[in-house]
Amino acid sequence: MFESNTDTESVDPQGARYVALAQGLQTRIAVGELRPGDRVPSVRELGAQSGYSVTTVLRAYEHLELLGLVESRPRSGYFVRAVPAAVRTLPQTIHSSPQLQPSLISADLVSSVLDTVSQPGLLQLSHATTAPELMPVAALNRIARNLIKEQPEQSLSYMMSPGLERLRQQIAGRLSACGVPAVADDVVITTGALEAIHLCIRMLTRPGDTLLMESPTYYCLLQIAEECGLRVVELPNDPVHGIDPDDVRRAIQRHRISAALFVQNFNNPTGSVMPDAAKREVVSLLNAAEIPLIEDDIYGEIGFSGVRATPFKAFDEDDRVLHCGSFSKTLSPGLRVGWVLSRRHHRELSRRKFTTSCATASLPQLIVSRYLETGGYERHLRKLRSELARSVARISDAVLREFPVGTSVARPQGGFVLWIELPKQIDAMEMFRRAAQQGIAISPGILYSADGRYHHHIRLNCAVSWTPALEQALRTLGKLAAALL
Ligand SMILES: Cc1ncc(COP(=O)(O)O)c(C=O)c1O
Repeated sequence: MFESNTDTESVDPQGARYVALAQGLQTRIAVGELRPGDRVPSVRELGAQSGYSVTTVLRAYEHLELLGLVESRPRSGYFVRAVPAAVRTLPQTIHSSPQLQPSLISADLVSSVLDTVSQPGLLQLSHATTAPELMPVAALNRIARNLIKEQPEQSLSYMMSPGLERLRQQIAGRLSACGVPAVADDVVITTGALEAIHLCIRMLTRPGDTLLMESPTYYCLLQIAEECGLRVVELPNDPVHGIDPDDVRRAIQRHRISAALFVQNFNNPTGSVMPDAAKREVVSLLNAAEIPLIEDDIYGEIGFSGVRATPFKAFDEDDRVLHCGSFSKTLSPGLRVGWVLSRRHHRELSRRKFTTSCATASLPQLIVSRYLETGGYERHLRKLRSELARSVARISDAVLREFPVGTSVARPQGGFVLWIELPKQIDAMEMFRRAAQQGIAISPGILYSADGRYHHHIRLNCAVSWTPALEQALRTLGKLAAALL
């Protein structure tokens, strides 16, 4: 569906302008200055007010349309969409006790949830994975076949840590383009982002140490903290702006923090993104306290605005941020190609990668490298972002239509998971069990904090095609939620 062979365009230079314009209107809608049904300024009016070209204004409106905030009416212009009231409320962040042990959420519970959702035949809205039709599967297969024929030895022999040099150059090049000065020698290739994060945590902490994280956050990161015997301090993660630098400041004053681990570019599960100024402030606070920051930037390239979200690493003058990423969300999770970038710790990370798993599989490294060279990655990303934005908007609308009053959904600005807060009386674990019995896999919110406090929340994967079966599944979920009220 998204096959392309050449890559002629890079990220749109107009991007930042139309996004800024769209964000201005988004704020006016959010604060109620523009109300549902209101006509927004015409393209010509907004062009005159802002000084931007008609093309830029049109792109801003198209973007707002994609997000489900405005609609165009033939020959009348753009109007603020009349959406259900629940759209305007966002899931609340629940504050936690000051310091927690992740073991409060047992590994057994996580395993049993994963076992349930991995049963064959379920409609899969649980795992954060992209449907194959959204990925360049045919191009990747073609490249794999050619590589085995052309480079049989390299494809099948060890590619020792730190990994394929050309791929490390390409990753460094992509990061340099978004403000992270990097060279191939700073990069270690890992088996997915999770291995990168694991290596960093094991290198930087000892059992009993304290890790600074956000809440809610991806449950696997909590599981790693548990395995490493760490305590965690969880900072409230606002569903729009992520964590607050003031909370970071207070946590540094109150606790002995060994390292921070943040997912602030399209957080899983909220989809929030921290503004650049806040990122700069957080990096400066952590650097001043000499606390390393492990940055999980796995969703950074799939923001709906079309502009690559700035990594924390771009603000890091002391080289204390360890940037972790992978191609799992943009090309294929099965390739298991990720990285960690850190000049300060490069040698040790490379050594630890070697003793952990010797090498990341060679063929996937070669496949990703050749795809980046010839496969039209930028074009694929552009299509992927807009498909994901559309799908998230469509599933959000369906949830607000089908679920009981009192349900609120996050407004992800990137990535592809949807965080949903149900009315407080609903036990989301019970809903999870009943959904599985009805053939639908969802992710219960209880997994996303160290003490399981998101017990009336669920997360849905939106990187799926819109089909009658999906529509029906969302209706069924709405009924299950209502029955549990
Ligand atoms: C925030 C976050 N980090 C890491 C991962 C895993 O990344 P990888 O498959 O590259 O190991 C995921 C996958 O869902 C994720 O959501």
